[in-house]
Amino acid sequence: ADKSVTVTLNPQESAPVINKEIYGQFAEHLGTCIYGGIWVGEDSPIPNTNGYRNDVLQAMRDIKVPVLRWPGGCFADEYHWVDGIGPKENRPRMVNNNWGGTVEDNSFGTHEFFNLCELIGAEPYLSGNVGSGSVEELAKWVEYITAEEGPMAKIRKENGREKPWHLKYLGVGNESWGCGGNFTPEFYADAYRRYQTYCRNFNGNRLFKIASGASDYDYNWTEVLMDKAGNLMDGISLHYYTTPGWVGSKGSATKFTDDDYYWTLGKCLEVGDVTRKHMDIMDKFDPNKRVALLVDEWGTWWDEEPGTVPGHLYQQNTMRDAMVAALSLNVFHDLTDRVKMTNIAQIANVLQSMVLTKDNQMVLTPTYYVFKMYVPHQDAKLIPLSVNTTYRKVRDNRLVPVISATASEKDGKVAISLVNTDLNEPCEIDIPLGNIKAKNVKGEILTSANIADYNDFGQPEKVTLKAFNGAKINKGSLKLTLPAKSIVTLQLD
Ligand code: AHR
Repeated sequence: ADKSVTVTLNPQESAPVINKEIYGQFAEHLGTCIYGGIWVGEDSPIPNTNGYRNDVLQAMRDIKVPVLRWPGGCFADEYHWVDGIGPKENRPRMVNNNWGGTVEDNSFGTHEFFNLCELIGAEPYLSGNVGSGSVEELAKWVEYITAEEGPMAKIRKENGREKPWHLKYLGVGNESWGCGGNFTPEFYADAYRRYQTYCRNFNGNRLFKIASGASDYDYNWTEVLMDKAGNLMDGISLHYYTTPGWVGSKGSATKFTDDDYYWTLGKCLEVGDVTRKHMDIMDKFDPNKRVALLVDEWGTWWDEEPGTVPGHLYQQNTMRDAMVAALSLNVFHDLTDRVKMTNIAQIANVLQSMVLTKDNQMVLTPTYYVFKMYVPHQDAKLIPLSVNTTYRKVRDNRLVPVISATASEKDGKVAISLVNTDLNEPCEIDIPLGNIKAKNVKGEILTSANIADYNDFGQPEKVTLKAFNGAKINKGSLKLTLPAKSIVTLQLD
């Protein structure tokens, strides 16, 4: 491990802004993400505002969720939006075939989603049904949401919403190579061209149309899509999960060896190489970077917790997951000339979630705290930097830096986030400040006695954010000791 490391900041006028949408979230009709996690209904004894849990609303506001993707995932391509509008008692039920065969009562639909986004100040990101839905169905959904007048607006008004909502981000299908219809890239490119044609800009609304993109290493998908439909899209997506594989056990979220831990960090960091390869392909067709790349699903995917409902993807979240979140966000910060949005999967009770809920209790996960301590980076200008760290060779021949860092500046304030990936050794950090005239520094730290520590009902604050007062500005340099397995954000002014 490194005993000491220097972080060299290279502020540049021309550096890109870290879009706040890099901190996007994803909420699917899957397990208890929506039902129980966000929505409990107006008549619930659980404290709520118009049916949304108050505790989760507050948690979402505190991390300034900039954009929320809904209703899937795989669910999106089996979802028929007309089933989710109108009086609740008349809404038909369906079987959620993708996720455990749970019965979906459609009580959370279009109105409930868009009103939630308004309530928390998040931009809605709608995933449209291309796999099992018609062109007409998708076109009318956009009209229902965004038109001021006309037949669809009339029904919306009858259902209680006079003014149209704002809709920018529209996904035309999800994982169209798999659960979203098992398309070939050529066939999907044609379907994309057709479906998006009829998704209109009503009144002042302007859609940002997103093609369903590749999963991790499928570069051919990006190549074909960019070639055949690149001129008709504003963005294309990419999914990348930190998981040991898609066949057999993915390993426990809470029981793992040191070797597993380092492997996890290596796998998570590979999102940088993979994204860059997709970006290189996009550069061939779109050298001016008009088309955005959106990593609209990412995060850890472990085995479901024993005793939970199969297919509901409920997993615990340890300090290891927090490390994955911080390292991934550090990588995304460096790719913001093309990567304009990412959405961690998912916001509540599913995969690498922000919150876990059980009846009226809520637990904030270590991953949540990373999102909280990274808020200062939202919409801030990146400060490019270099770190003279060493790298650890981990299983599967990947390299993991001992120290990872990112920095940004907004309204005269500089934020620097530092990650020490080493499980045992602290590291001295020296950050010469150059032209940055800062007098004060305050900090927050996330760490834990054991890397496998997590928060749960009964121990909700085992891993939690604490003030970090160990950084000092001395002779134009910022100096601190970064504890082992810790994440620190410093704010300077
Ligand atoms: O996030 C869980 C699932 O992962 C999504 O529904 C799907 O798009 C992906 O395979």
